[in-house]
Amino acid sequence: MLQVINDKQSSIEKVKAYIENQAGLDQLRFITCGSVDDGKSTLIGRMLYEAQSIFEDQIAALESDSKKLGTQGGAIDFALLVDGLAAEREQGITIDVAYRYFNTDRRKFIVADTPGHEQFTRNMVTGASHADVAVILIDASQGVLTQTRRHSFITSLLGIKHVVLAVNKMDLVNFRQDVFDRIVEDYKAFAGNLEFQSITPIPMSALLGDNVVERSAKTSWYQGPTLLGFLETIEITHSRGSDPFRFPVQWVNRPNADFRGYCGKIVSGKICPGDKIRVLPSGELASIESIKLYSSEMEEAVTDQSITLTLDRDVDISRGDVIVSADAPCEVSDQFETSLVWMDAEAGFVGRSYWLMIGTHRVNATVTEIKYKYNINTFEKLQSRSLELNDIGKVTVSLDQPIPFEAYSRCKELGAFVLVDRYSFATVGAGMINFSLRRAKNVHRQALSVDKEARARLNGHRPQVLWFTGLSGSGKSTVANAVEQALHRRGVRTYILDGDNIRHGLNKDLGFTDADRVENIRRIAEVARLMVDAGLVVLTAFISPFRSERDMARALFEAGEFVEIHIDVPLEIAEQRDPKGLYKKARKGELPNFTGIDSAYEAPDAAELILRTGELSVDECVERVLNALEAR
Ligand code: ADX
Repeated sequence: MLQVINDKQSSIEKVKAYIENQAGLDQLRFITCGSVDDGKSTLIGRMLYEAQSIFEDQIAALESDSKKLGTQGGAIDFALLVDGLAAEREQGITIDVAYRYFNTDRRKFIVADTPGHEQFTRNMVTGASHADVAVILIDASQGVLTQTRRHSFITSLLGIKHVVLAVNKMDLVNFRQDVFDRIVEDYKAFAGNLEFQSITPIPMSALLGDNVVERSAKTSWYQGPTLLGFLETIEITHSRGSDPFRFPVQWVNRPNADFRGYCGKIVSGKICPGDKIRVLPSGELASIESIKLYSSEMEEAVTDQSITLTLDRDVDISRGDVIVSADAPCEVSDQFETSLVWMDAEAGFVGRSYWLMIGTHRVNATVTEIKYKYNINTFEKLQSRSLELNDIGKVTVSLDQPIPFEAYSRCKELGAFVLVDRYSFATVGAGMINFSLRRAKNVHRQALSVDKEARARLNGHRPQVLWFTGLSGSGKSTVANAVEQALHRRGVRTYILDGDNIRHGLNKDLGFTDADRVENIRRIAEVARLMVDAGLVVLTAFISPFRSERDMARALFEAGEFVEIHIDVPLEIAEQRDPKGLYKKARKGELPNFTGIDSAYEAPDAAELILRTGELSVDECVERVLNALEAR
């Protein structure tokens, strides 16, 4: 009996000692990059196992699964431990990044396990932004691949300074030093262009356990650390305590008229009651009245703490605003140079607009210029008007309102953003702000005395844009032309912007790639806006095949000014008409990117008017347009 109590006490002591020890440990975050084939899952599985971070029942299940499903002839298949996630992913449970936690006596570790395929660059970006170290896997039998370069490039962009080059599968090359040396040389030649502080190559076999946790007898020529040994001892400096105070507001808490608290997480610096703060973008000043954590009051709060702030006076603050220290505010701007990683199968174009999410803010953004994109293998800078899946570019982004921000290199939370498609809500790009472009600040709008109202009064009618969209040969120009005649006869001041004509002048530099069509419509929308401002009824006749740009055009106008008219004919009819013989050419392959043949037409889903020119005469179409205008 006494023995049992003693045992119990000593194990309580042990647990206590363990907990005390763990609480004092620092924490290292790392990511692993590589494809499943590089042995990434096996590597993580082996580390968890050898660092004894798997529960007994998991080990039992792993042993039995390995016999049934494993690829290792009944021996433990560590990949099964990690690849459970892959199955969940297949079932539609989204796990972009899985974080795994494990400890040794020397350190706590958080590893962001990011799926490996090239198209999963996106997961890598989300998982990586806070990592201290990147473990980049290379299959020793394959050497440095394009994917290795891409992962390294992104790792460097993300500001990760320490890289472990895990040259895995050394067993496949008989643990030969010359193979290892050549890979390291290749890699260093490439990585010399990147901003890493350290590159630590380690020859290993995750499968057999060589140099992962235990030193291998098969690499007697290797004197460096094991992977875990390296991760346990690398010195990382987190120098955030002295950074200025930054607090993006997530939520304004107003339970009643007497209380107004601003909730969020401090992303840098510290704050005390009495400190003077500035609210951005408005710039309003106030002082901190109190800092609350649940129901208790705090005398100080620091980076990474989630708190509620109250101020000494009423200030208009909403979600997305950033509270900063009054004497060290961050910049506010609406135009940036960014590094952007494109993550969507659908390309990104200059001129197209997206949602930009940064911190707790969501704003409208347009890619205004692709300065260049990189050839990942050669670092060559390439001209381009579009970004394809996995492309990395230097890109200018313009917003419809100014936001508070920091350069990514100074503050990840206020410098990293994602671009989101407005229709599919897919994350299409991940970016880092490099700096703001000040141009916008020096160009002010001029106030003019004669305005749209005044011109409309003089004309005796409202200005508008009638935006005709439809396939080539659908009858856009014909109907627009007839409508203009009818309006003209009624004394309405009109103008037609017609695709074929504009492409001889203003837009003669543009062709028919998706990128050029986006730019074509962007310019036309801007010109139409000027003409509406001048008091005219503008008729535009462009295929304008993409919903995104038609909506962008619509957004330039006041409510009721933009009338979208879909000239709707089946492709067969347009092709039969073939007024310019272009469909015939396109079918023969002589005209690439022809709308309806090998370039998409996205029909409007909420046009103000649909005219089926296969069923209606031109006069009937005109009548419907005039009726619709009168009704409005
Ligand atoms: S849009 O797609 O950018 O809106 P736009 O309306 O300016 O096109 O020009 C379409 C006209 O250009 C067509 O009516 C046709 O006469 C001509 N054209 C020449 N090549 C193409 C092509 N590849 N696709 C569509 N139209 C083409």
